[in-house]
Amino acid sequence: MTEIDPNRTLASLVEESPTCARVFESLGLDYCCGGDQTLATACEEGGLAVDDVCDRLAEDRDQSDGDAADYEWDNLEDLADHVVDAHHDYLREELPKLEDIVKTVADVHGEDHPELRDVETEYRELVAEMREHIDEEEEELFPVVGKLDRGERLSVEEVERLREAIRTFEEDHTATADRLERIAELTDGYAVPEDACPSYRSMLERLERLERDTHMHVHKENNVLFDRVDERLAAASVES
Ligand SMILES: [Fe+2]
Ligand SMILES: [Fe+2]
Repeated sequence: MTEIDPNRTLASLVEESPTCARVFESLGLDYCCGGDQTLATACEEGGLAVDDVCDRLAEDRDQSDGDAADYEWDNLEDLADHVVDAHHDYLREELPKLEDIVKTVADVHGEDHPELRDVETEYRELVAEMREHIDEEEEELFPVVGKLDRGERLSVEEVERLREAIRTFEEDHTATADRLERIAELTDGYAVPEDACPSYRSMLERLERLERDTHMHVHKENNVLFDRVDERLAAASVES
């Protein structure tokens, strides 16, 4: 069976084998914004037995037959394209559809489940923030990563702008993760109430999928793409 080193970071384990994310999600371990913590530390803070978690990760990895990432990590332009195809396009399609469902469910069930009004408010804010965020990533950051791949020179101003953009995007990610966590708390971890209609169930399933997809999306950006951009910026020859 595969040996899992508990001193590795959560982000590096997911980077090597994306299936680890399933196990981390089910245990409530934050591998995206908190991806820099080691597995041992995360387990200790979460009150989990690290040996059991290592066994579970190894088992899952063996069963999935070394399920590899479907993107080329070291080509920044490919990775940025992958993020747009796999995550931004999904958000552009899903966010407005789910917005209609969240509103309908709050209108129909809000009296019996008053927390649905808060879910609706949080979700509306989330949509506004995410839409602006993905547009900005595609306008300000992704076009430049190709230049870095090709080793093109960047001006001091361009480098500063990129570093500032990445800092802002990372702050956005934390805010988004917090908002999704509030929605998960409001719905008691997407628990389906006895009186839930099909739309209510569908809303909960789709909100859960949105949270999981966002964790993977943020992991690819914070822990892989942005880190690689930082490394290339540090190494790039800079024009003054
Ligand atoms: Fe993104
Ligand atoms: Fe992002």
